Amino acid sequence: MFEPKQLQEVAEGRKAYEAAVAKALTKGPERKENFTTGGGIPLKRTYTPEDVDSVDYTKDLGFPGVYPFTRGVQPTMYRGRFWTMRQYAGFATAEDSNKRYRYLLSQGTTGLSVAFDLPTQIGYDSDDPMAVGECGKVGVAVDSLADAEILFGGIPLDKVSTSMTINAPASVLLSMYIAVAEKQGVPMKALSGTIQNDILKEYIARGTYIFPPKPSMRLITNIFKFCSENIPKWNTISISGYHIREAGSTAIQEVAFTLADGIAYVEAAMKSGQDPNVFGKRLSFFFNAHNDFLEEVAKFRAARKVWARIMKERFGVTEKSAQMLRFHTQTAGCTLTAQQAENNIVRVAVQTMAAVCGGTQSLHTNSLDEALALPTDKSVRIALRTQQIVAYESGVTNVVDPLAGSYAIEALTKQIEEGAWEYIKKIDELGGMMTAIEKGYPQKHIQDAAYDYQKSIESGDRTIVGVNKFHIDEDMSERKLLKVDASVGVNQIKKLREMKEKRDNVRVKTTLDAVREGAKGEANLMPLILDAVHAYATEGEICGVLREVFGEYKENVVL
Ligand code: 3HC
Repeated sequence: MFEPKQLQEVAEGRKAYEAAVAKALTKGPERKENFTTGGGIPLKRTYTPEDVDSVDYTKDLGFPGVYPFTRGVQPTMYRGRFWTMRQYAGFATAEDSNKRYRYLLSQGTTGLSVAFDLPTQIGYDSDDPMAVGECGKVGVAVDSLADAEILFGGIPLDKVSTSMTINAPASVLLSMYIAVAEKQGVPMKALSGTIQNDILKEYIARGTYIFPPKPSMRLITNIFKFCSENIPKWNTISISGYHIREAGSTAIQEVAFTLADGIAYVEAAMKSGQDPNVFGKRLSFFFNAHNDFLEEVAKFRAARKVWARIMKERFGVTEKSAQMLRFHTQTAGCTLTAQQAENNIVRVAVQTMAAVCGGTQSLHTNSLDEALALPTDKSVRIALRTQQIVAYESGVTNVVDPLAGSYAIEALTKQIEEGAWEYIKKIDELGGMMTAIEKGYPQKHIQDAAYDYQKSIESGDRTIVGVNKFHIDEDMSERKLLKVDASVGVNQIKKLREMKEKRDNVRVKTTLDAVREGAKGEANLMPLILDAVHAYATEGEICGVLREVFGEYKENVVL
């Protein structure tokens, strides 16, 4: 990148600089013995051309919108279009959540993001014994198409893109979305959105799995195929690093384990006869925006470069849009503090800047009170305004990839890229991500990193403002938090019972029998599940039939 003469001059300059450092140190030591990024990467005091001389602009960076997309996936990025402001939301009943979605859209969000309650996420109806106490608690309760019609009522599904954080039962909720759109007169091909549909990270870090790996991968690749043929603008998976990082991984592990999951999905889809140049266009990703600004910006840039190389060199993908890593970001929930909760607004602002300078396509900003409860209308508005201020006022959206060329950013981008490749190589040696998960490989590394992170807080080596430093006594009881009324479950169960009395139960049985027979065979299950959803079969009934045939995943605990 630099002429030998230039490097020679820098080396000369370094000698003088080192002398100046030595002199400064006689007045007193630096704050720390060793400086590292939040994810543990050792940091130099000062980066210079010497640290980026190996970076080749065309090979390693390229222009925005050009392979390997290090500088962004769009030629004009936010000069052309801001990222989608997409606040993850949902609680209590479909009516309550629909009201929140309309509120968010009225405040300027540009995409929807549905949070389902845990029974919905693991395939139980609200009247299932497993659902007691959880109905509508951490997300919206959706039992059948009847709930989905209310949830999306009055929202034009041909104009708004919708993300649904649903994994094991993704095929059922996608079918409900298709059915609601049909009732609105919106054909499948006009729909845009995303389902998370990423079971591997559920095995690794989040836990909302149902079925064993093989049938899970079948359901996932069935969705790839069905959407490639019927819903061309639908992102069929959101391969997630967010929860891996929330579980305590380092930034490098977040990239490596997420992309290793991506490799497993591409291999599974190719094994089912699908073309990565086709389904690859609609793979999407989901990362965490953590506290260390420099490391996070470098992380996103490195992730795009590694994925582009994986798709081109490992899978021979030539279709440009199938080489691109397009991603959603959520600011790090694990960095929110219950203490002095207003401080979280600042944390989220820094994390937002990192996601934007890192080139995200879609963003959720956490609300200040989310360490304590689901956000109120006011706290979620502040979170959205944070995005809007960065978008319209900060200036960082007026230049594409504005931090490129920074010696520190380019050096960190290269280090994260190299670190990710090392993990991916190791996972390949273990026989791929599924085997690695069975052996507890990613889980162990995440647990170790989480332990080190917590130890650094308890030792005081890592300062958390308001928690282990600058602490105050405060009365938390005064804070106005959103409360989900326990009666939600009772009313939901009543609604469910009335729906079951009204529906055509003969048709429900026929469609559920067809799902069961299909699951025993090799058919693509999406059309069969769509029929059952149209008949108002519930999510619990459909997943119940699939449980009968596929069984359930049994996690092997990693010590
Ligand atoms: N110039 C020209 N066109 C541009 C452009 C530009 N500068 N910028 C964007 N566009 C185009 C895009 O090409 C696209 O058009 P296309 O569909 O025809 O290609 C259109 O504008 C929309 O842009 P994006 O696709 O970039 O934005 P979307 O918002 O539609 O999609 C995504 C973003 C990341 C690809 C998608 O997968 C997405 O929205 N994901 C969201 C996932 C999500 O919200 N997850 C929440 C999970 S919550 C959770 O799990 C945490 C909980 O567990 C705690």
